[in-house]
Amino acid sequence: MVTKQAYAPYSKFNVGAAALLQNGEIVTGTNQENASYPVGICAERVLLGTAATLFPGVPVKTLAISYDSTNVKSDHPISPCGMCRQAIHEYELRTSSPIRLILSGQEGDVYIIDDARSLLPFAFTSDELK
Ligand code: THU
Repeated sequence: MVTKQAYAPYSKFNVGAAALLQNGEIVTGTNQENASYPVGICAERVLLGTAATLFPGVPVKTLAISYDSTNVKSDHPISPCGMCRQAIHEYELRTSSPIRLILSGQEGDVYIIDDARSLLPFAFTSDELK
């Protein structure tokens, strides 16, 4: 499981994200924390930066997000934080392609959401900057 690659010594909340790209490639990301807490970055944005760098312009078809923790039970899905929703939605816009989200814990329910846009009503987008 990619959650093992997380660096989360402060929260002990290891998040792993895996994406299937339209070209068949799989890209992963994990949260990377920092002693200066706000410097830490979520798994989803690590993944998107990696995908955009390795496979520029290739849409992400599906993005799965899960977690593991020594502090809490991983028995229900988590959903991306607000900053990640904004980042995932911009990825949808820049590739003109919705990103299906699969949200889960190590056990329990799995949620499937058609796109990040639906998690971010009234989103701020580049349209405002034109
Ligand atoms: N985190 C993620 O990586 N993704 C999420 O969707 C929620 C939160 C990380 C940030 C921080 O390293 C830890 O989980 C606890 O908030």
